[in-house]
Amino acid sequence: MSDAKSSEKPGAVMAGVTQVVNWIDARMPLVETYEYHMSRYWAPKNFNMWYLFGVLSMVVLVNQLLTGIWLTMSYVPAGDKAFASVEYIMRDVEFGWLLRYLHSSGASAFFIVVYLHMFRGMMYGSYRKPRELIWLFGMAIFLVLMAEGFMGYLLPWGNMSYWGAQVIVSLVGAIPVVGADMMEWVRGDFLMSEITLNRFFALHVVALPIMLIMLVFLHIVALHHVGSNNPDGIDVKKHKDENGKPLDSIAFHPYYTIGHDLPAIVLFLIVFCSVVFFAPEMGGYFLEPPNFEQANPLKTPEHIAPVWYYTPFYAMLRAATYPLFGMDAKFWGFVVMVGAIALPAVLPWLDRSPVKSIRYKGAISKGMLAMFIVSFFLLGWLGTQAASPFYTLLAQVGTAGYFAYFVLMPWYTRVEKTKPVPERVPA
Ligand code: HEM
Repeated sequence: MSDAKSSEKPGAVMAGVTQVVNWIDARMPLVETYEYHMSRYWAPKNFNMWYLFGVLSMVVLVNQLLTGIWLTMSYVPAGDKAFASVEYIMRDVEFGWLLRYLHSSGASAFFIVVYLHMFRGMMYGSYRKPRELIWLFGMAIFLVLMAEGFMGYLLPWGNMSYWGAQVIVSLVGAIPVVGADMMEWVRGDFLMSEITLNRFFALHVVALPIMLIMLVFLHIVALHHVGSNNPDGIDVKKHKDENGKPLDSIAFHPYYTIGHDLPAIVLFLIVFCSVVFFAPEMGGYFLEPPNFEQANPLKTPEHIAPVWYYTPFYAMLRAATYPLFGMDAKFWGFVVMVGAIALPAVLPWLDRSPVKSIRYKGAISKGMLAMFIVSFFLLGWLGTQAASPFYTLLAQVGTAGYFAYFVLMPWYTRVEKTKPVPERVPA
């Protein structure tokens, strides 16, 4: 090929691409949408590593969707075939083991990145006005994600799948008056059965993923309408140049996409693949030993514990041991657990501080956030352990710490002394 020809070719390709783009643009705002969300989305210049977990959540979401579709091609949602079909995927399907481990480790990775993503929001007050809706969409994502993980865990039809689901579904029975009927309604049967497996399968592979995708879309639409917060909680839109571009912001693409997110995605994939290849069970935390045995309604596992990402809430459920106002302890456990999961949703209205970021908040906020972290980890660990009187006491202390962070927030964020927030992002 002559030099002249090879230099003509890219030009011709570009001209073709431009033509196609122009054709689409005349019919739909392609370039405008790209600019709005990428090359002219002005993001504060002081993002740090905490701002990586949103994009990493997206990476994991895509991994779960793709591996999930391929697993569904060989999985059979039938009581007498589900367990064997997973074994078949692991042994006989080409790269089936890889698909399955990418999906099962992906579930844990999802919760790791989403918990870190939520924690960033709590640290920097990203839930505060005008980002309340982003936070509420995030909370809806979190709830759907919990349901998605719970229903997915039943599908291998292992013994922990069976008994874990049995314990959680039976919690519905703690609701007064309608509890027993609701429990039957959720299961679709008098006990956990193939009917339950079928409906969990339908929800896990169709309904909940659609909801997740829609919610993530709305989450980003809401984010890009008001713009991102930043580690200092400074309103970067206050200072703009003559073209309306905030002075302390840079274009999301290429600066953050290439310089920030891409290296992080590569690093994340290296760590994630190391887990998938070398420790997919993660010592029983990602895949629990009783789940290598088929579901057996006649054999309860010695110690029923949910997967690690639910254990903080499971520990709070078990922390309620006293009957109160004529209702038994199980009912109060259910109330405490539901309350603990739902409470972060009202954070935007609990936080009364004049500043957003923890960097400028006072000592009480910092102490309370530290206490929240300790309580969450303590509860997470306790949830993996068999209950004992001492552990129950610890779980009660942890539960008190978790709730105190939220319930006392309107008070401590108002009374404490805060530091002045700089007008501009510090250089
Ligand atoms: C599938 C799960 C999720 C995905 C894919 C996702 C995606 C994203 C992305 C890409 C961003 C922008 C980049 C960043 O700030 O990191 C973002 C921002 C944000 N997300 Fe999420 N998110 C998810 C779950 C959640 C959850 C569970 C919450 C909280 C309950 C949440 C709260 C927020 C907030 C408050 C922001 C704005 C942060 C700021 O500007 O400082 N997200 N999310």
